[in-house]
Amino acid sequence: MITNAAIKAFSQIETPFYYYDMDLLRSTLHECAKQAGRYGYKIHYAIKANDDPRIVEEVRKVGFGLDCVSGGEVKMALEAGFAPADIVFAGVGKTNWEIKLALENSIGCFNVESIPELEVIDAIAGNLGTTAQVCIRVNPDIDAHTHRYITTGLEENKFGISAWAFDELVAALKASKNVHLKGLHLHIGSQITIMDPFALECKRALGIVARFREAGFEITDLNLGGGLGVDYEEPAANPMAPFEDWFGTVAANLPVAEGQTVHFEPGRALVAQCGYLISRVVFVKKGKDRKFVILDAGMNDLIRPALYGARHHVENLTSRGGKLRYDVVGPICESSDTWGEGLLLPATSRDDIFAIATAGAYGQVMSMRYNQRPFAKAYYSDEILKK
Ligand code: LLP
Repeated sequence: MITNAAIKAFSQIETPFYYYDMDLLRSTLHECAKQAGRYGYKIHYAIKANDDPRIVEEVRKVGFGLDCVSGGEVKMALEAGFAPADIVFAGVGKTNWEIKLALENSIGCFNVESIPELEVIDAIAGNLGTTAQVCIRVNPDIDAHTHRYITTGLEENKFGISAWAFDELVAALKASKNVHLKGLHLHIGSQITIMDPFALECKRALGIVARFREAGFEITDLNLGGGLGVDYEEPAANPMAPFEDWFGTVAANLPVAEGQTVHFEPGRALVAQCGYLISRVVFVKKGKDRKFVILDAGMNDLIRPALYGARHHVENLTSRGGKLRYDVVGPICESSDTWGEGLLLPATSRDDIFAIATAGAYGQVMSMRYNQRPFAKAYYSDEILKK
């Protein structure tokens, strides 16, 4: 939420910048912990969604582990004080140094995405005289009904090992003497707003656990990945992701055997709504049939609209004028640098302050320096409102 006091503080800060509502972040983390706690589920925050140190620190304080997808993220997790056992490491292209780093620090689990990867982890673990803990990432071939670029669980996607390779996988596992199979990892996609795909994911997981048992492997850990979606259209009305539905759906569809632990890797659902990209109006420009609001925040600060055609709620925080239609765009020399077309907004003028909502996930962390623009800084509600 952006309070009047925050808007007042914004007028003193150079734009564009990221603003984090730390109260909302904390209440979201606590709600997730509470709902997961009802079933004994373990949470590993997908740090790729936002690796801002203050955010990561709040995640650590609530007791979650981390889901990492690179050596850099594993390093960051260790430096931030996460217990190695609470770190899981996924990714289709883990390089030798990344595998070595993770093994030397005894992370909780590799989420292994291919048979060649399994073989390399086994060899490196052998050289280091250690045993690698692994989950096999299974491609469940489920359509998560989300954007093409963020669907990951389909046969045609590059992630995970498919059912047809099962026999070869079992042979490779049996030959891997320096690897201990803990369990399965699945992730079906991102920004999933209906629960059916998650129910289907549970059914797939059960089927695969049974196949592993037949092959002589006991599965102790079931990691169902992330993917829970948030409301980009009406963030103020729905600031909290539906954790209760998510875990409830899994609880209803996935009986847990004695000694098994179920894990999740939410990213977006934990951090999206607490973040805003705050921007100033540089110019209001008249086109022939439309009016453009040109903001000082662009696709280099938040790439989701340009990359996925995503739409974020855009608000003028400082005008109370009558409503007019505007195309709201960024300053970058790319036509895709657009925040929204024909948006109904209060009459807008130069220097008005805008908020682009739901920017906490895959925002700051995906920003870049295109056009020699500096990285937008981050400000936190508990710091700027104290002043
Ligand atoms: N686990 C794995 C293995 C993943 O690949 C991902 C996200 C997550 C967990 C966390 O997913 P979440 O709960 O955040 O949906 N940049 C895109 C999203 C890419 C997601 C990549 N993988 C976006 O801005 O929509």
